[in-house]
Amino acid sequence: MKNIIAPSMLSADFGNLEKDFEMINSSDCEWIHLDIMDGVFVPNISFGFPVVKRMAALTKKTMDAHLMIVEPDKYIPQFAKLGVEYLSVHYEACPHLHRTVQNIHACGMKAGVAVNPHTNVMLLEDILPELDFVLIMSVNPGFGGQSFIPQSVEKVKKLKAVIEKVNPGCLIEIDGGVCRDNIAMLAEAGVDAFVAGSAVFGSEDPKATIAFMANA
Ligand code: DX5
Ligand code: ZN
Repeated sequence: MKNIIAPSMLSADFGNLEKDFEMINSSDCEWIHLDIMDGVFVPNISFGFPVVKRMAALTKKTMDAHLMIVEPDKYIPQFAKLGVEYLSVHYEACPHLHRTVQNIHACGMKAGVAVNPHTNVMLLEDILPELDFVLIMSVNPGFGGQSFIPQSVEKVKKLKAVIEKVNPGCLIEIDGGVCRDNIAMLAEAGVDAFVAGSAVFGSEDPKATIAFMANA
């Protein structure tokens, strides 16, 4: 089965989105990954609704939005309205996670929970039957271009074992430092969807890199 590749638009050229979307739309990726940062939950600010709207108009791919924000419930309906299909919120930012997941589903989107590198994935055990995907952060969220944290591989394996028991349809997505050199090993560990920012947009031939990663 082909790997789901989700190029992170954080690494795209915001001065020429048309050009990057031409590449994306004709590539082997299935998703695009939209990193939404609020400067509160993470020490960086990225982009908001006007940019998501523009990307929605340009893309032919499935939109996967990763909310690195506090109080995500306030904005869930707006992401649905813009055509986002996969929406993840952070475990660390949601005191009423079950309610938040219900809100995402009520808006017609697939619900995911993202976990920071320090968060034990087993904390998701009770919410797992409700989830469509789990996003394992393999860097500390906030910036593209960081190095992959090796312990993330064990987290994937641990999570995969529980998923098989309680919710086999739940996907595992990984985000941060994913590249040509580690993707095959991550797929082997149980990852289904791979976010890649700098590995795609920093490569000489982004389309060829996506094709390589999709088939790794
Ligand atoms: C980090 C973001 C990532 C980031 C990945 O906070 O969630 O999606 O853009 O970038 P790379 O692939 O360069 O590590
Ligand atoms: Zn992300």
